[in-house]
Amino acid sequence: MASLPSKVTIVDVGPRDGLQNEKQMIPAEVKVELVDRLTDAGLPAIEVTSFVSPKWVPQMADGSEVMARIRRKPGVVYSVLVPNMKGFEAALPTQPDEIVVFGAASEAFSQKNINCSIAESIERFRPVVAAARERGIHVRGAISCALGCPYQGEVKPEAVGYVAKLMKEIGVQHCGVADTIGVGTPHATQAAMEAALKHYDLADVSGHFHDTYGQAIGNIYACLEMGISTFDTSVAGLGGCPYAKGATGNVATEDVLYLMQGLGIDTGIDLAKVVAIGQWISGVLGRKAYARAGNAIAAKLAA
Ligand code: HMG
Ligand code: MG
Repeated sequence: MASLPSKVTIVDVGPRDGLQNEKQMIPAEVKVELVDRLTDAGLPAIEVTSFVSPKWVPQMADGSEVMARIRRKPGVVYSVLVPNMKGFEAALPTQPDEIVVFGAASEAFSQKNINCSIAESIERFRPVVAAARERGIHVRGAISCALGCPYQGEVKPEAVGYVAKLMKEIGVQHCGVADTIGVGTPHATQAAMEAALKHYDLADVSGHFHDTYGQAIGNIYACLEMGISTFDTSVAGLGGCPYAKGATGNVATEDVLYLMQGLGIDTGIDLAKVVAIGQWISGVLGRKAYARAGNAIAAKLAA
């Protein structure tokens, strides 16, 4: 058997990637409670919000308020997405521990999501990365559509490698490889990860899987076999990207925690608490959680 990492870092991106796609406006109060409860459950890192154009993503317009109201636990990394200097300047007073610049391995998606080419996006990120690093703020990069694009179709690992190299050159410290539309399968995932690993150390590469085609758990296992030990997940499987029609949410945090528990991998997170959070937020949104293990555990507790 392959030896797997003994510890894994789970980044809950639900408050941002999850909620950004909700049609109904969610009060800041609910967003704050979600982040606070995830903190309490032991999440070591939480993606709280984004500082993007409110015309493009109205749901995230209250980012400053949410960041100001959350209760921060020392040691937990609270991150925010920023697409350009305007976003960075808005984010700075909220004192994020980490910022996330987000590019794409597909030209078509880059245009739809951030209204510029891949090369232009890197030029927009360059001053953002420099300004963040000057202030000691950690910089993560996300590469969307690393395993397929809703507009362009196939995406080759070389395209992932190309963006990873550009991000590395401008000082981005961590490379998140994202399957935005959840089409990847384990071997394709490993190829995309290999491409990123040509430019980043193992500890600085993570996987971000949407579960649209039900492949996320398999893809995470494929990453574990390579020694990758950081994954983005979303409580209750919340989410989707507004610029990737039909794409469902991130793999549920509950399901990934159940996997890690079964594999004997330490995450430091209380699964029962996360299950309760998933049931609660799904109730607030008026639907059932998209978390297989979460719903099963909740049903067992209720019986
Ligand atoms: P643009 O229209 O090209 O920008 O949008 P612009 O610089 O020409 O500015 C146009 C207007 O937007 C101006 O306002 C700016 O001030 C304003 P106006 O003068 O017309 O009133 N503006 C901003 N306002 C607030 N915050 C800002 C900002 N920047 C400009 N930061 C832009 C370019 C990037 C801003 C736009 O395309 C945008 O906001 N896109 C957001 C896309 C987004 O949030 N997508 C979802 C997150 S990515 C994701 O989910 C994928 C991920 O999960 C990984 C995966 O799964 O793949 C990370
Ligand atoms: Mg995403």
